[in-house]
Amino acid sequence: HFRESIVLKGTSYPSDSWTNIPPSILQKVGRDLHNRKHHPISLIKLRIKNFFYNNFLRRGSPIFSVYDNLSPVVTLKQNFDNLLVPVDHPSRAQSDSYYFNRSHMLRAHTTAHQKDLIMSGLNSFLIMGDVYRRDTVDASHYPVFHQVDGVRLFTQEELFTSVRDPIGLSLFEKTVGERLQDKQEVHSLEAVKLVEHDLKSTLERLAHHLFGKESEIQWVDAYFPFTHPSWELEIKYQDKWLEVLGCGIIEQEILRSGGAANQIGWAFGLGLERLAMKLYNIPDIRLFWSENPDFLSQFQVDDPETLITYKATSKYPQCICDISFWIPDNYKENDFYDLVRTVGGDLVEKVDLVDKFFHPTHRRQSHCYRVIYRHMEKTLTQAAVNVIHNNLRQEAAKELGVELR
Ligand code: PHE
Repeated sequence: HFRESIVLKGTSYPSDSWTNIPPSILQKVGRDLHNRKHHPISLIKLRIKNFFYNNFLRRGSPIFSVYDNLSPVVTLKQNFDNLLVPVDHPSRAQSDSYYFNRSHMLRAHTTAHQKDLIMSGLNSFLIMGDVYRRDTVDASHYPVFHQVDGVRLFTQEELFTSVRDPIGLSLFEKTVGERLQDKQEVHSLEAVKLVEHDLKSTLERLAHHLFGKESEIQWVDAYFPFTHPSWELEIKYQDKWLEVLGCGIIEQEILRSGGAANQIGWAFGLGLERLAMKLYNIPDIRLFWSENPDFLSQFQVDDPETLITYKATSKYPQCICDISFWIPDNYKENDFYDLVRTVGGDLVEKVDLVDKFFHPTHRRQSHCYRVIYRHMEKTLTQAAVNVIHNNLRQEAAKELGVELR
């Protein structure tokens, strides 16, 4: 049911069996909320950029360079292979990412550019941009969001400058050892510990810069295919631990094949919407896409460090509609969630799978979803919602091959 090709900014991507980008997603490409003056996403982006510009200088100039204008259209190689993502990794599934075809996709993380920038000779940089993922539908998930990635590489001299007597210290083991919980095969323990310390102290300072000096933070172990060891940073916010970023020591194979074999480095990646929702008290992720002046006007500040607490105009009532159908064999829940976005747009606040039923004699599986509709700026009538919901029922039958109940 997708066109023969998808045309974006003058380039045509021929469709194949991998194509799964609906028009509603394509329309978001180029909105560039992270580059829009006074938008909350760009305010947080600026705070992070300023933190790195102001705190990391070499002979008076910033060490980090910023890339915030790279096209979100990338190859699968950039998004996955360059980062050593295994061929059977779940993030490669058609149900999880948006594909133009089997060679091109909308990036699922800004890490997709890491290897290219390393290959171009950079050793300290930030990547900022829009990323695209198929996911569930609720107040904190949206198929487009924004990320910041950071990378810092060190030569042996740079890493050991602060060590008084670096004789005998090296980035690498003389003979390749084993991969351990706290280091890769090729790295020396002293190098890894120094890079880990630099990474963690940098990100702790960033967290305190964003959330205030008093905010409580903790590190938890994590896994990413492109870093080892890896961690996540959590911040205590309103008595709950909130995961804010992933990071780790870059897999040496990425540096080696990227032409930086004699360096060691760290990388991190964080999501801007999640930070902005906490920092500005924004209750629903759809608001970032709103053109409503009641929303946008609250962020018209010249200094991005200004404290802002969003004041919601009172919420308009919900309209709730259920839909039940028998699912076909190759059905994926994310196919339905995408369809709801396509048909209902930003009127859809949440979709819940409320019931699953297996018919023992017909050996068929049925799903029931509850779709919650709510307009951010006015009251929806049940009659208007019924029109959309009926449309959704028809499209589900047509596009997904489900049998309505
Ligand atoms: N790309 C990862 C994500 O989207 C974050 C990450 C970036 C983790 C760089 C480690 C290093 O979740």
